[in-house]
Amino acid sequence: MSEYAITVTNLTKRFDDITAVDNLSLEIRWGELFGILGPNGAGKSTVVNILSTLLDPTDGSATVDDHDVVFDPDSVREVIGVCPQKPAFYPHLTGEENITLMGDMYLVPKDVLKERVTIMVEKIGMEDHIGRRTKDYSGGMIRRVSMLMALINDPKIALLDEPTVAMDPKSRRAVWEYIRELRSQGKAIILTTHYMEEAQELCDRVAIIDEGKLVELGSPAELMEKHQAKNLEEVFLKLTGKKLREEV
Ligand SMILES: Nc1ncnc2c1ncn2[C@@H]1O[C@H](COP(=O)(O)OP(=O)(O)O)[C@@H](O)[C@H]1O
Ligand SMILES: [Mg+2]
Repeated sequence: MSEYAITVTNLTKRFDDITAVDNLSLEIRWGELFGILGPNGAGKSTVVNILSTLLDPTDGSATVDDHDVVFDPDSVREVIGVCPQKPAFYPHLTGEENITLMGDMYLVPKDVLKERVTIMVEKIGMEDHIGRRTKDYSGGMIRRVSMLMALINDPKIALLDEPTVAMDPKSRRAVWEYIRELRSQGKAIILTTHYMEEAQELCDRVAIIDEGKLVELGSPAELMEKHQAKNLEEVFLKLTGKKLREEV
């Protein structure tokens, strides 16, 4: 096993006249919680979708657990859990049924699956809602269940695309704790977010991207020190002259 769980090398993705990812290079270590931070449209989901083998790059390459995403997508899919930005559910099934169905598809043994679901649901604070149909869930509940669906196979690598959007502070904390626990198990985790305080609190290192380009890379503390900024939002502002958070 190499030192890096994920490598991204001169990765570029163009859609017609839009360059969503522009010559991006990153290396993510095992046991690292790596944040991809940037405003809406920065290219975060496109990176995650390429690493998930859902999109092919226009140029450059990426490996996941040493498997090339273009040439060996099946091996990549075996080691990743993906929490997509737009979660997909069977709305008439309960949260528990959706997670269990996913576990069945991954051939997780029945007894292991049942126990795993119980433990995960408790950790993420969904005990009271897991028996309800997902069609009645709030945005935050949907995301929490979607995360458990992504992780039911106990993947070595987790790709979490804005997992805490639309979550109340308590749920967000529960998700953060859960993500920290995944890291302590030695997994590599990519987390995309446009919440700078989330990246700052949670991530070992962050790549700040804007218009598909890497603008900074380092630990939150390093970046704040280097740019004499009190938080990552200010780092972004100093680098791009733009605010990270969209005005609502
Ligand atoms: N399938 C697609 N077709 C055309 N343009 C796309 C597609 N997916 C993303 N884009 C564009 O690529 C850019 C980056 O999008 P995305 O990766 O979703 O950003 P983020 O996740 O950071 O908000 C945006 O300008 C977006 O409109
Ligand atoms: Mg996105």
